[in-house]
Amino acid sequence: MKIDIISVVPQLMESFFAHSILKRAREKKLLEVNVFNVRDYTNYKHGQVDDYQFGGSAGLVMMIEPLVNAIESLQKNTQYDEVIFLTPDGEKFNQKTANALSLKNNLLLICGHYKGIDQRVRDHFITKEISIGDYVLSGGELGAAILTDAIGRLLPGVLNDETSALMDSFQDNLLAPPVYTRPEDFRGWKVPEILLSGNHAKINEWRHEQSLQRTKEKRPDLLD
Ligand code: ADE
Repeated sequence: MKIDIISVVPQLMESFFAHSILKRAREKKLLEVNVFNVRDYTNYKHGQVDDYQFGGSAGLVMMIEPLVNAIESLQKNTQYDEVIFLTPDGEKFNQKTANALSLKNNLLLICGHYKGIDQRVRDHFITKEISIGDYVLSGGELGAAILTDAIGRLLPGVLNDETSALMDSFQDNLLAPPVYTRPEDFRGWKVPEILLSGNHAKINEWRHEQSLQRTKEKRPDLLD
């Protein structure tokens, strides 16, 4: 899978993808991530990419030409399954969307900045608008990093244990069960005995019960 990202601050993004699971995914060539600087596509002086909004009001808006130049130049080489704009007024991102997007081949993510992007870009180029939560960030970059992480770890072969993404919280609308590792006893705080029993059927049953109980306690809305 390939994820291309258009941003005004590409430097902000590189380190997200240079460590841990996403690093491994890129090294194994299961995931390609490229970050493009929208300033490289502007014809305005001094690399200008934003301007005052028509009608007045505070805050700058990202101009249409640099963004369209960037999008169209990338579209010459790649047919994107979705062109996604990260925005607080988009559809709220969740595991279901991550699962669906992980089945695509090529995604283009557009990060807004300042007051947003010229509406005509949204009208004519964007196929999906996604928010990572009901709060306003200074740009879409963190959202793009979150999408890339959540999608990248679902790609077959990225996680060592193929089943481990299926056991994540939210995969069955349930939160994940508690997990433990060595030592078995720390200051008298013991690991539940069932986990040491070697009885996998019983362990799975216990885990499912714990998942249900956790979901009831912490996120009853998921059970509706
Ligand atoms: N850009 C600014 N705020 C955002 C949010 N909550 N989600 C996605 N992109 C954003």
